[in-house]
Amino acid sequence: MEAIVDKFGRPIRDLRISVTDRCNFRCTYCMPKEIFGDNYAFLPKDALLTFEEISLLANIFANLGVKKLRLTGGEPLLRSQLPDLVRKLTDIEGIDDIGLTTNGVLLGRYAKELYEAGLRRLNISLDAIDPFVFGEMNGRGTNPQIILKNIELAKKIGFQMKVNMVVQKGVNEHEILPMAMHFKERGITLRFIEFMDVGNDNAWSFDKVVSKKEIYELLRSEFDLEPVDPDYFGEVAQRYRYKDNGVEVGFITSVSESFCSSCTRARLSSDGKLYTCLFASSGFDLRELIRSGKSEEEIMEAVTSVWAQRTDRYSDERTEQTAKNRKKINMSYIGG
Ligand code: GTP
Ligand code: 5AD
Ligand code: SF4
Ligand code: SF4
Repeated sequence: MEAIVDKFGRPIRDLRISVTDRCNFRCTYCMPKEIFGDNYAFLPKDALLTFEEISLLANIFANLGVKKLRLTGGEPLLRSQLPDLVRKLTDIEGIDDIGLTTNGVLLGRYAKELYEAGLRRLNISLDAIDPFVFGEMNGRGTNPQIILKNIELAKKIGFQMKVNMVVQKGVNEHEILPMAMHFKERGITLRFIEFMDVGNDNAWSFDKVVSKKEIYELLRSEFDLEPVDPDYFGEVAQRYRYKDNGVEVGFITSVSESFCSSCTRARLSSDGKLYTCLFASSGFDLRELIRSGKSEEEIMEAVTSVWAQRTDRYSDERTEQTAKNRKKINMSYIGG
């Protein structure tokens, strides 16, 4: 299937589907607890797309060229009966990859069921192995051993896995080498993510970013690395491998080397809005089209027209000014 393209000729290839805006963590860089407190107005249940509605939309996106789906949140494992959704999505023709991005806390409970439903890929967020550092960063004091144990369990079940570490200056830089060693020994890909100015609440500035270059230099002081060619157009991470054991390590360089020119990702919020950039300020309401009884053809035309007008390239344009002044959706609402 020939994918539809945007104003810069970028095809639509991936759909990131947020299944809930809630999370059991309060990561300081994503849902700081001062803002996401007891009185925070999360979406009511009837605002969320049902699994039928999500599947209908995923089918439409597959018809327009999407090959890859990623389930996100908030924390996607908080959505009840998630394996039922996975089962529906694996049946869609044209989709050849489904992944899930999770903080891993609830994997012990759901990993087996998700695997049985057909899920094969997990990206697990873990920012430190040091209990104090991790507890502070996740805002709930959760011990990293819980996540590490669940990673081992998921590996035994057979999942392909990557670990995501958001690196912040002065916060968890000193965890780069311990994390690298830990996952290198266990044959799991670790990806270092440059801290981004998503949303309006995470007090971002350039001087809190640890760049790929800095992390790479640090790794090179301990390990021999060689670059790995991208698997496909628009891959998010720059990949390397350790020469001695072939295990991979990656960098997501949204700040120091933006990758907008090959960005093929659309995002669907849990209440059914379509966003064409992680840093967008508004989305297009697809739930309204479904619930007002529009046909699949009409919805397909609407998506085509939104994508055809797309000119987003936020990370190419980022300055301290845009970071502060532009109104952006929250990361937890759109799922990264
Ligand atoms: P795979 O490569 O398929 O394993 O997944 P992924 O890396 O695309 O997804 P994941 O949810 O693990 O995201 C890793 C990091 O990349 C997160 O910090 C995301 O916010 C970031 N990311 C993913 N897509 C984009 C994008 O289009 N733009 C920017 N700026 N960051 C992105
Ligand atoms: N900058 C970079 N990455 C972030 N993530 C959440 N907030 C940010 C941010 N401000 C990461 C999470 C998760 C992925 C979906 O996005 O840690 O791994
Ligand atoms: Fe939750 Fe992930 Fe945001 Fe942390 S980064 S608060 S785990 S959604
Ligand atoms: Fe895509 Fe927007 Fe990220 Fe650029 S900043 S890579 S356009 S989502």
